[in-house]
Amino acid sequence: MSHKVTLIPGDGIGPEVTQAVVRILEATGVKFEWETFAVGADAYQKYGEYIPQDVIESIERTRVALKGPVTTPVGGGFPSINVALRKKFDLYANFRPIRNLPHIPTRYPDVDLIIIRENTEGLYSGLEHEVVPGVVESLKIMTEKACTRIARFAFEYARKNSRKKIHAIHKANIMKLSDGLFLRCAREVAKQYPEITYGEHIVDNTCMQLVMNPYQYDMLVMENLYGDILSDLCAAFVGGLGFVPSANLGDNCAIFEAVHGSAPDIAGKNLANPTALLRSALLMVRHLGEHDASTQIRNALERVYRHREKLTRDIGGQAGTAEFADAIIEEMQKATPEPART
Ligand code: NAI
Repeated sequence: MSHKVTLIPGDGIGPEVTQAVVRILEATGVKFEWETFAVGADAYQKYGEYIPQDVIESIERTRVALKGPVTTPVGGGFPSINVALRKKFDLYANFRPIRNLPHIPTRYPDVDLIIIRENTEGLYSGLEHEVVPGVVESLKIMTEKACTRIARFAFEYARKNSRKKIHAIHKANIMKLSDGLFLRCAREVAKQYPEITYGEHIVDNTCMQLVMNPYQYDMLVMENLYGDILSDLCAAFVGGLGFVPSANLGDNCAIFEAVHGSAPDIAGKNLANPTALLRSALLMVRHLGEHDASTQIRNALERVYRHREKLTRDIGGQAGTAEFADAIIEEMQKATPEPART
């Protein structure tokens, strides 16, 4: 059986890390049929659209996409393609596990935190206008429906995966209505999961608490912007942005991508660490039911980190993106038993 997957290599370091990950996935022997598309500035140049209709139709068909990062212009230009795709497919839950890989020296060992970020509203609604010259209004949209479903997603995940504790992260002391609604919904949902300890922390305090002692948290659920910021902060616990995967999950489809962006400072130089996208691909492979392939890749990845000979520069190695991928494929091949001779 082969899996049809929409592939969006993205831009910046996107094509490099995507190519590395596709090679590793294909080395498992699992068959993938990639439907590959450009989005963002590249697509606009070629087709006059930032998200060509073909991409939308492909995701509607395959219901699974693997996506590299896409650059969003700062302070003007076109709106975020990443946000647009999440909204288009109502991928309301952004699942971001923050876990150390063994054998990598990091600021904190054995971190195991999960960030659940609401993905469709908040300040990312993109509703901004200039009221009068020099005065801009940016609307933070919060709905009971979206707040309740993200809280429910978090508690359901916790129940199914034996997680013990969820903190709702907020700023309801200042944004009394919007974050207040978020908290009200989270509290209502929490009542239905008495086995899971529920807590609430204000977002600024959470930043300090995380840096002081990340082990005090188990799962964090929050609206869009706080989730974006805290994910990068937490990435620093486990080696940096080169390590943290994510899954954008909805009721009908899923897009798997790394937490990091297009990293223009290192793009095109064979310097990017593909581990974050590879770990996102592992989430995808398990979503597709290919558990053996996931284990095969994870074991090879851990062996490459244990040997420390082919590490990328972000964690002090000398290997390029492609050599790192080669090393993983080599480890997978070593571990594959020889077929029996007849
Ligand atoms: P970034 O995540 O691209 O880079 C931040 C820092 O981390 C840079 O120093 C970069 O070199 C490093 N880094 C990131 N990924 C790495 C990797 N795989 N290996 C080694 N080092 C890595 O964040 P930045 O610079 O704020 O954003 C650049 C662009 O990416 C922006 O246009 C932003 O909008 C976009 N972006 C796209 C995302 C997506 O497509 N999902 C997510 C975040 C940002």
